[in-house]
Amino acid sequence: MKLLVTGGAGFIGSNFILYMLEHHKDYDIINLDKLTYAGNLENLKSIDGSTHYSFIRGDIADAKLVGDIMDTGIDAVINFAAESHVDRSILEPAAFVKTNVLGTQTLLDVAKEKHVSRFVQISTDEVYGSLGATGRFTETTCLHPNSPYSASKASADMLALAYHETFNMPVLITRTSNNYGPYQFPEKLLPLAITNLFENKPVPIYGDGLNVRDWIYVMDNAEAIDRVLHKGKEGEVYNIGAGYESSNISLIKTVVKLMNKSESLITYIKDRPGHDRRYAIDPSKIMNTLGWSSRTSLDIGLKTTIDWYEGNRAWWDRIKSGEYMKYYEQNYSSKGLKAY
Ligand code: NAD
Ligand code: TYD
Repeated sequence: MKLLVTGGAGFIGSNFILYMLEHHKDYDIINLDKLTYAGNLENLKSIDGSTHYSFIRGDIADAKLVGDIMDTGIDAVINFAAESHVDRSILEPAAFVKTNVLGTQTLLDVAKEKHVSRFVQISTDEVYGSLGATGRFTETTCLHPNSPYSASKASADMLALAYHETFNMPVLITRTSNNYGPYQFPEKLLPLAITNLFENKPVPIYGDGLNVRDWIYVMDNAEAIDRVLHKGKEGEVYNIGAGYESSNISLIKTVVKLMNKSESLITYIKDRPGHDRRYAIDPSKIMNTLGWSSRTSLDIGLKTTIDWYEGNRAWWDRIKSGEYMKYYEQNYSSKGLKAY
């Protein structure tokens, strides 16, 4: 297969590319990424020069570019490209509408015109809104997004499903809970906490710290997306989750303990506006129909992630200093790595 992965220089997209090249050695992957602040080609250093991988810097909302790429013969599109951070969506919602809504619509339009035979839209459990103390999100839970980020993702989901109904497009949607693991940009809770703790800096906890998230190790999500890509039913939504719910404070206390640091570094700060209280995914559908289940316990996943950040300090130092942004110019533009 020849895959177009969008947003492949980000956290989940880069882990997905590494996963796919490892598990499908004859596949070809084109990674289309705009390289916003969240895009980091250093995540994919290990496959630079691979004959099965190429990178294109560009915007998913650029219909001409997307059309040219699809003309090379793309079997499937997996759309990870997005503005993904809730806090930024509160400060600058327009960027979220541009990429997450208009960008997705452009990709859908071009994929329709070029008769692409599979389109996987990567979405999030945040489209369902916030839960009370009990219950879990199923695929039929009503959408009730509360942040500009989740509203833009819900809009994209609705467009994708509408393209399936109206144009019979082969669209599938995954809605995953909070991912964690290697290569996550240190603005999100876990990498921020881990890197700050290594530097003995405070770890900010919003509000009372009792907001609950449902955590999944990123490679388990990659495997689930692979399963949906190959075996999922067109027009269907698949929830992906591992069943590890934790309040933020309890999660961070576990991390502090695993890293042998002091709880005095935990600092409560002003709450996020519109902060969703609880997310919890019911993954029964993908488990029962596609035979997927998560492999990594939260305990093992956290230890692996902490070890990774410890062993890859240069990776996050270069993010904190801004050096990572020079990788494209230094390696793609001047050294002629395979790029269009
Ligand atoms: P990320 O912010 O780490 O990466 C996003 C990538 O998209 C970056 O490489 C960025 O450069 C690229 N991008 C942004 N705008 C673009 C554009 N207009 N054209 C091309 N590329 C563009 O995000 P992530 O955490 O890897 O999330 C990937 C996807 O998974 C997103 O769609 C997100 O909504 C979804 N998701 C994330 C989580 C999570 O916990 N991180 C959970 C569920 C779903
Ligand atoms: P985040 O990683 O931003 O993911 P999301 O908002 O998409 O779930 O945040 C995870 C949880 O951690 C969320 O409840 C907000 C909280 N949080 C903090 O308490 N402190 C922080 O510094 C950050 C970034 C998040």
